Amino acid sequence: MRSVYIETYGCQMNLADTELLFGHLGRHGYQRSDDPAGADVILLNTCAIREHAEERVLGRLGELLRHKARRPDVQLGLAGCMAQHLRDRLREQLPFVDFIVGPDAYRRLPTLLGGGRDPFVDVTLDRSETYADLTPQRETGVRAWVTIMRGCDKFCTFCVVPYVRGRERSLPAEAIIAQVRQLVADGYREVVYLGQTVNAYRDGVVGFGELLRRTQAVEGLERIRFTSPHPSDMSAEVIDAMARCDKVCPQLHLPVQSGSDRVLEMMERGYTSVQYLALVERLRAAIPDLALTTDIIVGFPGETEDDFLATVQLMRAVRYDNAFMFKYSARSGTKAFKWAETVSDAEKGGRLQTIIALQESQAAAINRALIGSTPEVLVEGPARRRTGWSAGKTPQFKTAVFPTNDARPGDLVRVRVQEATAHTLVGCAA
Ligand code: SAH
Ligand code: SF4
Ligand code: F3S
Repeated sequence: MRSVYIETYGCQMNLADTELLFGHLGRHGYQRSDDPAGADVILLNTCAIREHAEERVLGRLGELLRHKARRPDVQLGLAGCMAQHLRDRLREQLPFVDFIVGPDAYRRLPTLLGGGRDPFVDVTLDRSETYADLTPQRETGVRAWVTIMRGCDKFCTFCVVPYVRGRERSLPAEAIIAQVRQLVADGYREVVYLGQTVNAYRDGVVGFGELLRRTQAVEGLERIRFTSPHPSDMSAEVIDAMARCDKVCPQLHLPVQSGSDRVLEMMERGYTSVQYLALVERLRAAIPDLALTTDIIVGFPGETEDDFLATVQLMRAVRYDNAFMFKYSARSGTKAFKWAETVSDAEKGGRLQTIIALQESQAAAINRALIGSTPEVLVEGPARRRTGWSAGKTPQFKTAVFPTNDARPGDLVRVRVQEATAHTLVGCAA
């Protein structure tokens, strides 16, 4: 048996792909290894979303090279979005890399690995590949990720994803529901449906709202989440399904990117700030205890101080429970890559600090208001910083920690919140 070590960068979809790779390679005689020092195959599953993500991988490759120096038979390779993005350049710049495999070519990886040590590249994107028939080797735990669609057709002007992940395609609903049933049988309590525009899911018959309803019907399943939905695909049917299905958690990651209509238009996001705010209102009316999180980019080409203030304004209006905030990073191949950058790195940094501070204070206030409440916490395991304590998530996907002697992963425990920070609820079993 040969062994494979995989390091994962980027989003949950990449983490789910790594589980897929372990499963697929496992069936072809490769054993999972957690240490690159002894592995026959070392694989970095990469991300291309911002320049920094690619720089990290290049740095790490330099470190991992010493394994190859010591054991020349090691096969060192790149998978994922950066492999797809920089395919031609990587081949020239990194001659010591043995293989480069894009997100739609994982099925062929065992064959490629068996083919000798010459550099090889498989970066063909495939309009229909969903890996629906491959069983991932998942991390143990209470939560399982299930990729239900791949690719993206939105082509926001800043984003590399449609170029590296290819066109949208969905797994058949029956295959997804069968997976979920199996996951419940295997002991998982929660599923997280994944896709770059997860709510654009459609298999030809079943749409995303209907998929949520069918998942709700799976016996033994406790919680359903999904990420990332696109605001434009947040149909009345999906909102209705969220509101009616009690297993679908009252939590939504709804990336807004900017509060300025001018910037949103340049980004080609497909909505205005007023439309986005109206959507938030509809969601909150339908799901009163809904927690909302978002993604925001500062310093997009042409973003003025006024545009930035519109983003601040929108954040104040929505009051997000959490936000992932980024400096714009130009990505080759995208439309915006050709546009001159108008915001200096220092200015991007300043804008980022401003909204991070705003977000922290709003999140702290939102969480403090939860003191005295008793949310149901799905226990995941011991708390990281406090011995004898357990940690888990509330339905709103907030981390809660509480002292316990006997809570086990998978237990549902009512926790009375006694203290709260911007990121954690601290309490005791109620
Ligand atoms: N499909 C999701 C986003 C996936 S990428 C959506 O459309 O909402 C995750 C986040 O990375 C994006 O929401 C965006 O905020 C950020 N991002 C994407 N491209 C970026 C770029 N070129 N520079 C900076 N941040 C970027
Ligand atoms: Fe990128 Fe836009 Fe697609 Fe999201 S919807 S993955 S931001 S192109
Ligand atoms: Fe990165 Fe690819 Fe995800 S670019 S964010 S790993 S889809």
